[in-house]
Formats: sequence, C-alpha cells, structure tokens
Amino acid sequence: MVAVAILAAGRGTRMKSNLPKVLHSLGGRSLVERVLESLQTVPHGRRMIIVGYQAQEVKTALQEKSNSHLLPTLEFIEQTEQLGTGHAIQQIIPHLEGFTGDLLVLNGDVPLLRPETIKQLLQAHQEHQNAATILTAQLPNPQGYGRVFCNGQNIIKEIVEDRDCTTAQKQNRRINAGVYCFNWSKLMEVLPHLQANNDQKEYYITDAVNQLEQVMAVDVEDYQEMLGINDREQLATAYEILQRRLKSQWMAKGVTMIDPNSITIDDTVTLQPDVIIEPQTHLRGKTEIASGCRIGPGSLIEDSLIGENVTILYSVVTNSIVNANSQIGPYTHLRAEVEVGAGCRLGNFVELKKTVLGSGTNVAHLAYLGDATLGEKVNVGAGTITANYDGVNKHPTIIGDRTKTGANSVLVAPLTIGNDVYIAAGSAVTEDVPDDCLVIGRSRQVIKRGWRKKTH
Ligand code: UD1
Ligand code: CA
Repeated sequence: MVAVAILAAGRGTRMKSNLPKVLHSLGGRSLVERVLESLQTVPHGRRMIIVGYQAQEVKTALQEKSNSHLLPTLEFIEQTEQLGTGHAIQQIIPHLEGFTGDLLVLNGDVPLLRPETIKQLLQAHQEHQNAATILTAQLPNPQGYGRVFCNGQNIIKEIVEDRDCTTAQKQNRRINAGVYCFNWSKLMEVLPHLQANNDQKEYYITDAVNQLEQVMAVDVEDYQEMLGINDREQLATAYEILQRRLKSQWMAKGVTMIDPNSITIDDTVTLQPDVIIEPQTHLRGKTEIASGCRIGPGSLIEDSLIGENVTILYSVVTNSIVNANSQIGPYTHLRAEVEVGAGCRLGNFVELKKTVLGSGTNVAHLAYLGDATLGEKVNVGAGTITANYDGVNKHPTIIGDRTKTGANSVLVAPLTIGNDVYIAAGSAVTEDVPDDCLVIGRSRQVIKRGWRKKTH
C-alpha cells in the first residue's frame, strides 16, 4: 500500500502574494493540481493534503477538481502553525495509525514531475526495501535547494539545507527535489523526535531522512522536472519548460509552428497534423484544431472547435465552433457561442455573439450579430447591426437563405426575415419580412435645388 501526502500548508512568502503559493496558476492549472496529476502512476490509495495558510481556499479549489472525476477523493489535514516540512508530516501521524505501507511525500510546489519519474522512485524503493528513497538531480544552479551527500552507490549520507551549508558544501550540485518515499513504520521511529536545530528553527523532513538507514537517491536525468517554485521567476521558468515540452510533442506529431517562442498553448488543446500556427498566437482551454488550418499570426483561440482548412488571422475566438474551409479575420471577434458554417468568410471588425451562420454565408466588414440565426449563402453587408437588446431583454434575429442585407442595415429584434430578401442600404428593419422581397426601411431621399442661394 502506498499513501500519499502533499505538503501545501506554507504561504510561499517568496511569491509576495496573498494567494497561497500552491494555488498559483501554471498554464491554466494550479501548482498543487499539477502535483496531484503527476500521481497517475501511483496505485490507488489515500491522498492526504496538508493545508494551513488559507486552508479553506486551498480545500475549496481542490475539492471542485476532485469532484470532477479527474482527481481522486482527497483528505485534508490541517497544520495550524507552519513549523516546517517535518512538522507538516507529523500532522498525519494520528491519521495513519496502524498503517504498514509506504508513504510518498511530495512538496506542493514541484509541478513539473513526470508520472514515470515517480514510478521509478517507487520501484527503486520497493526493490531495495529502503527505509527511504528520494529523488535527486544535478542542477546547474543548485542555489536554494537542500544538498544531497552520498556514500558512493547512491546511498544517502546526509541532506543539508542551502542556508545550513558550508561554502564547501554549497559546491555540491546534487539537490533534494522534495519528493520522498518512506517506509512508514521506519519513519515513525524518528518522525516524532525531530529537533529544530537549524538556521530557520524549523522541523525539517530532511532531518528524518538523515536519521534513517538505508536511504537511497534516485537521480533524475532531466533536472528540469525537479524545479521547485518559490518565486515568480521560477514560476515563469516552469511555464517556459512546460511550453517547450508541449510544443516539441506537437511538432513531432506534424504541427508546424512559426516562431514557437512567441506562441503559447495550454496542455488541454488538441491539434491535428498539418496545422500551421503562426507567430503571436495563443491557444487556450479545450480548443481543438483540425488538419490544414492556418491559425495566426496574432490570434487567440479559447475553448473552441475549428474544422479542417480554416484560416484565422489576427482574430479572437472564444467558446465557438468554426466549420471547415471558413476564413476568419483579420480582426474578427467570435465572442461566445458562435457557430460558423462551412465555407463562410468573416472579415474586418466583425463581432458575433450567440449566433449561427449557415454554410457559405459572408459577413465581410464592420458588423455586429448577436442572438442571430442566419441561413446559407447570406451576405451581410458592411455595417449591418442586429439591435438585439432593448435595455432589459435580448431578442433573436432570424435570417433566411440567400438574403442580402444592405450596408448599414439595422435589424431591430425580435425579427424574422425570409429567404431571398434584399434589404436596402441604410434601412432600419422593425417588422418581419416574408420570402423574396425587397425591403426599404428609410425615408426617401429629398433633393432641394438651389439650397445655398436660398439660405444665404
Ligand atoms: C524544501 C527542502 C529542500 C529541497 C526543496 C525542494 C526541507 C527542509 N527542505 O525546501 O531540501 O531541496 O524543498 O524544492 O524540507 N510546507 C508545509 N508546512 C510547513 C512548511 C512548508 O506544508 O510548515 C510546504 C510548503 O507549502 C511547500 C513545501 O512544504 O509546498 C516545501 O516548503 P518550502 O518552504 O518551499 O521548502 P524549501 O525551502 O523549498
Ligand atoms: Ca520550495
């Protein structure tokens, strides 16, 4: 049996934030959520989270997730005073009475761990029947981390915190990642007796490690996995690492990225082969992009489904669907709940909200369509506006197939316009229009000759 404890009680002073450190977002998910996700390879068992600073906020944030089937049921254990990582683990003693398995301990601020790495740790621990096994890595810049000293064959002699190291000890680049697997019964021989004999006067979990025998180090090749987030700069570095990982995966699967460093992609996005992503493009949330699309430059796509061979240029698309072969932009805003049919063309300064367009419909310039349903092959003239809001309620506009709205038409909703209708330019349409009509909703032009002479 493996029980898991995640240390998430600290404030994270170095973040200089009111938000608890473990709730800071890294590419759309909090640090502690990412730590939980790295446990995929750990057999089902108890998952305990040690909370303290803003315990309720941390609980609420994680409970929402744990109900969502993504995460297993979590047990929250309070550490009312944050007296150190060892003190945090002491809080679970009453909760693990009689437990005889292993305890996997993870700091809540190591979000880049790969599930395979944790699997390796557990395997080494069980294979060698160690009292404890910990993840270590050689860091180019180990500053701030506990240094790990070994006796030859990865058997740990001692971990010394950065601030307690001598100058000579600081030269050691092998660091403690803050991920440990303990034989619980062995840990219980030392855990209750920790002393706070160190620079911070805290109870360190690393002291428990120092008192156990035998303790083995599992060295991780990709040291980037071990990055612990203590400040905003490390948070930004972690984001870069995640992005690099993700982009190389997509490129390996046949996605072209032009200037990848200027592109950001959430790890919830899916892309098909032969998608081209141009510079300064950002793909977020549950976005899916089909083969043959060219997205960007300069576009933001969030929670949207994009069909095959669509182009989106300098545009913002949120919570919408764009069907195959449509062209969007430049400067189109699909604000929410929009469905664009196949082969549509949407152009400059066009905003759509809660609107469905049939296939082959064009909205090429300067238009606002809200709460509207358009048929196929409709041509929406420049400056067409649906007046969908009367100050209290939103009303629908329905437009039939092949209808053409003249430039600067105002369609005052609720309104139903039939098929094959022509709306004269500059019309304010306030009444329903049947099929196959010309509608003119403006006053006739008046020309008064010799006007200047009369008035001067
Ligand atoms: C810790 C390790 C260090 C290791 C580094 C890896 C100790 C003493 N040091 O240092 O050897 O190299 O992690 O990233 O363990 N926490 C609590 N309660 C507390 C204190 C901390 O739950 O009373 C939690 C924090 O919320 C955080 C984690 O424990 O998630 C680690 O604490 P932090 O203060 O960041 O430890 P480091 O100084 O980074
Ligand atoms: Ca840390």
